[in-house]
Amino acid sequence: MDDHEQRTEAPARPGRVLIVDDEANARSALAELLEDEGYITSTASDGAEALEKLPLFEPEVVLTDLKMPRMDGLALLEEGKKLRPHVAFVVMTAFGSIDTAVSAIKRGAENYLTKPLDMTAVSALVERALEKSRLAAEASRLREQVERRLSFAGILGDHPSMQRVLKTVGQVAPTRATVLISGESGTGKELVAAAIHHNSARGKGPFVRLNCASLAESLLESELFGHERGAFTGAEKRRAGRFEQAHGGTLFLDEVSEIPLATQVKLLRFLQERELERVGGNETIRVDVRVVAASNRDLKQLVEDERFREDLYYRLNVVQIDLPPLRARRSDIAVLAQHFLRKYAEENGREIDGFTDGALRALVGYPWPGNVRELENAIERAVVLCEGNQIDADLLPVGSGREGPRAGEGDLGLLIPGVTMAEVERMVIERTLDAVGGSTAKAADVLGVSRRTIQYRLKEWRGGELEPDE
Ligand SMILES: Nc1ncnc2c1ncn2[C@@H]1O[C@H](COP(=O)(O)OP(=O)(O)OP(=O)(O)O)[C@@H](O)[C@H]1O
Ligand SMILES: [Mg+2]
Repeated sequence: MDDHEQRTEAPARPGRVLIVDDEANARSALAELLEDEGYITSTASDGAEALEKLPLFEPEVVLTDLKMPRMDGLALLEEGKKLRPHVAFVVMTAFGSIDTAVSAIKRGAENYLTKPLDMTAVSALVERALEKSRLAAEASRLREQVERRLSFAGILGDHPSMQRVLKTVGQVAPTRATVLISGESGTGKELVAAAIHHNSARGKGPFVRLNCASLAESLLESELFGHERGAFTGAEKRRAGRFEQAHGGTLFLDEVSEIPLATQVKLLRFLQERELERVGGNETIRVDVRVVAASNRDLKQLVEDERFREDLYYRLNVVQIDLPPLRARRSDIAVLAQHFLRKYAEENGREIDGFTDGALRALVGYPWPGNVRELENAIERAVVLCEGNQIDADLLPVGSGREGPRAGEGDLGLLIPGVTMAEVERMVIERTLDAVGGSTAKAADVLGVSRRTIQYRLKEWRGGELEPDE
């Protein structure tokens, strides 16, 4: 093939110009001139017709007369800018009426031409206007791209499993689909829920969160659906529930597995009918709310155990996002650790360059039962305690046992052999509790034991009092 031919540049994309004038002759003369110069043109005989053509023809430049029946040029300019902010308007004004031209410029017109038209001036102005319009469109495209990246930027992760998660978040966010986010404690469920909200059309609406494990059964129902005055003892005023508060936005139901069966029925009804009644009321209320739910327990298993309604499970699970535990995406550990290091160094006004090799090895080798939250806490602590400009393994809980024997490089930072089963158990429980913010229920979930087991151990070690839970 001829080398020369390959290098020939593709012709520039032809500009699109909409010509608006109530005089047919003027329209066709302009159209002819611009077509000759390689533009694609369309015409309209007044502002109203032009406005209708904007979304269909998608002009980059609008060349418009000012005095026209129905809708004049200034009104077209004003409405058109709202509809298509990047379109460049060039107004044509009768000789001697500079005032209107000036007010057009003030309202965002790119330039003006005086009639009778000088055709050379027309093509030069249209060319410049086209360039302006394309630059503006490009700038806003870039801005959107940056904003999109920023709003996802809170969620770090290059591991393929996280890339899949991010892709799903991007696909599902703009829809109204109910999403169920599952994953162990600290894997980023709330972060993902917030990202879904912020990247949806309802992103400017409220993001309301309710932890379903935090309230007693009777309270949960009125918290969700609100109540009428006198619905129960103590209900002195009518109160809007979280659903009503989330109108136009997203309701994030955290730990959805903890919703009692009776309340599950009501939630199901809302997801099916999009309407609800306040507790003690019979007025039916319609609200526009998207539901995103999260659980760190296996809902499917709970369905099998008849602790969670199957129909509700399917309603919630329109789209499922499963967040992998950190130990299943070890390649992300270093990136996350660097991110938290920068964050906490800045917050604490510390100058720390990074981690020693030993620290990085320890970070990557540790199983992180409390996932990203545990990692974040560990880094914050290390930053605060760090005296030099690098974080070494001994500042990380993974590098040295907090209790009992000091560590070598063992997976849990314990000397193996040389440590008793009881010590291992205590360390695992205490670290997990640390990582999940002290909640025995969450620690029990992570460790796969009952909450009672943990409470008994704590009672043994700490003497007497049971840990208060959320
Ligand atoms: N991929 C990630 N990138 C950056 N930060 C993350 C990521 N995942 C989690 N985090 C951070 O880790 C912490 C815990 O995340 P989050 O609260 O979303 O977890 P969770 O799954 O809701 O936990 P729990 O089940 O305990 O409620 C937060 O501070 C969050 O910002
Ligand atoms: Mg959470």
